[in-house]
Amino acid sequence: MSKTQKILLLLFAIFICIQFFHSKENLSAQAVPNDLFVHYKAPDSVKQLVKTACYDCHSNNTTYPWYSRVQPVAWWLSDHITDGKRKLNFNEFSTYELKKADHKMEEVIEVLEKEEMPLKSYTLIHANARLSDAKRKSITTWAKQVRTQIQNPL
Ligand code: HEC
Repeated sequence: MSKTQKILLLLFAIFICIQFFHSKENLSAQAVPNDLFVHYKAPDSVKQLVKTACYDCHSNNTTYPWYSRVQPVAWWLSDHITDGKRKLNFNEFSTYELKKADHKMEEVIEVLEKEEMPLKSYTLIHANARLSDAKRKSITTWAKQVRTQIQNPL
């Protein structure tokens, strides 16, 4: 066996071994009474866009494609979800104090305008989460209305 073959065999063996490590999946069957869209009305188109482009990492429920269960992809994804959710969880949005909620919405607008979200590594695979300028604009326009609503509670 050549050196290259040995290395390939070793890598393959490692790949097989890591498949036995499962990442905890971000799945919850709980109702989401604190969800952003329960508390702030939005046009269906905006709701759909945000759910498609952001909810996999910023909610308690991720839609997992098959390859996401293959290691090391699953670890990598799990990291993104843990991180994303810790910073902003749309399912828990109404539990945020108004000041925090307003700030999070301000950040939503900012990351969309700077095209920082959804993450590039995500849209590379999830073509349906890619946002055109018009779609980005429809979300930010709505998010600005939400900020006005948060700043002027009834
Ligand atoms: C593939 C996972 C993923 C997707 C999809 C995604 N995000 Fe994120 N998001 C993250 C991660 C990870 C972080 C935290 C790391 C960072 O700040 O760069 C984050 C951070 C953020 C932050 C900053 C929060 C803070 O308090 O700093 C905002 C705002 C945000 N995302 C909004 C969005 C919006 C809006 C969408 C959809 C248009 C979206 N994200 C889609 C993973 C994702």
